[in-house]
Amino acid sequence: MNLFDSADFGALHLKNRIVMAPLTRLRAGERGVPNDLLVEHYRQRAGLGLIVTEGTWPVQEGRSYPGQPGIETDEQIAGWARVADAVHAAGGTIVMQLMHGGRVSHPEIAQTPRIVGPSAIAAPGQTHTATGKVDMPVPHALELDEMPEVIEGFVRAARNAVAAGLDGVEVHGANGYLVHEFLSPVSNTRTDIYGGSPENRARLAIEVTTAVAATIGGDRTGIRLSPQHNIQGVLEEDSDDVLATYSAVATGLAPLHLAFVDVLHPEPSGHLVRTIRSLAGAPLIANTGFQSPTGRADAIALVADDVADAVGVGRAAIANPDLAARWEHDLELNEPRPHLFYGDGAEGYTDYPALAELPAV
Ligand SMILES: Cc1cc2nc3c(=O)[nH]c(=O)nc-3n(C[C@H](O)[C@H](O)[C@H](O)COP(=O)(O)O)c2cc1C
Repeated sequence: MNLFDSADFGALHLKNRIVMAPLTRLRAGERGVPNDLLVEHYRQRAGLGLIVTEGTWPVQEGRSYPGQPGIETDEQIAGWARVADAVHAAGGTIVMQLMHGGRVSHPEIAQTPRIVGPSAIAAPGQTHTATGKVDMPVPHALELDEMPEVIEGFVRAARNAVAAGLDGVEVHGANGYLVHEFLSPVSNTRTDIYGGSPENRARLAIEVTTAVAATIGGDRTGIRLSPQHNIQGVLEEDSDDVLATYSAVATGLAPLHLAFVDVLHPEPSGHLVRTIRSLAGAPLIANTGFQSPTGRADAIALVADDVADAVGVGRAAIANPDLAARWEHDLELNEPRPHLFYGDGAEGYTDYPALAELPAV
C-alpha cells in the first residue's frame, strides 16, 4: 500500500493514510467550547486523510487541563458542530478523541469536588492550575457500582460527538489517562473484577469501547493504546504481562469490528503491536511516539511494508497544515514551534503557512 492512497476504515473514508494524531492545544477557554480558532485550525488540516481531535473530556470530572475542550454541554456540542462542518466542507474526515483524564487532573482544574482513578494512588509530579503548580492529588478510587456511570459518560459523549456531525470517535486508552490507568498493575491495584489479572485490567477498555460501538457503530469507533509508554506513573515494565494485557484488550475488541486501532509504540513492526493488530482484526494506525517527530520516509515505509494501514502524525501536522501535499510532492516543511504548542491565541496554532501561501523563491 501507498501512504498517499485512499482507504476506508469502517464507515470512515480517508483520502490518504496520513492521520492527524490527537493533539492537545488548550485553546478552548474556561468552558471548553471550540471557538473560531479551533474551527480554523482543524479546517486548515482537512487535507490529511483523517483528523483525530485533541483529547476531549466526556464529563467534567475527566478534564485534565485548563483550556481543554469538552463534549458535554450544548455549547460545546454546538462548537464542535462548527468544527465538523468546516472540516467536511474542506473535504476532510474527523473523529473525536474521548479523553477521560482519570487521576491526571485536579479539583481546581476539573472544578469538581473530586477526581477519580482505579485506585487511590496519585500520579507522580505536579500539575498546573490557574493559581500555580500543585502536587497531583490522590484520586477517589472508583467504586464498583460507579463503573457503569463512567462508561455511560463515554457513551453520552460519543452520542454528542456524532450529533455534532463528527464522523466517529476514538476512545483514549493511552498516555496515562483513565482507561490506561486501569491497564497497568502499578496504577491499578484493585482486587475486584477491574483489577488483578490482565483480563480484569483490560475490562474497562473493552467495556467502554463496546458500549460506544453499540451506540454509534463499531465502524465509527476506534481506540488509542500506548503499551509500555511508561508515562504519568502508568508503568508497564513486565513484557509478559503487557503482552497478556493487550492481547486481552485486542481479543475483547475483535467482535466490535472497529474502524481502527491506533497504537503508539516505538516498534510498530514488533511482536506486541503485530499481535494487537491481528487479534483486534481492525486497521492499524501506527505512531512511533515522542522520541523523534514522525518523518516522511518512515511514514511511507510503515504503510509500504504493511506494518500499518495508516500513520499517525503529530508535530509535523501541527507545523504543516498542508502536510499531505508537502509529503506527497516531497516539498519543504515548516518547523514546529514547541513553546507555542500549549497556550492561547493564533500564534503557533493557525499561523503556520500552507506552501501556496509562502512567498515564491
Ligand atoms: C502538543 C502535543 C499534544 C498532544 N496531545 C495528545 C492528546 O491529546 N492525545 C493523545 O493521545 N496524544 C497526544 N499527543 C501525542 C501525539 O498524538 C503523538 O503520539 C506524538 O506527538 C508523537 O507523534 P509525532 O512524532 O508525529 O509528533 C500530543 C503530542 C503533542 C506534541
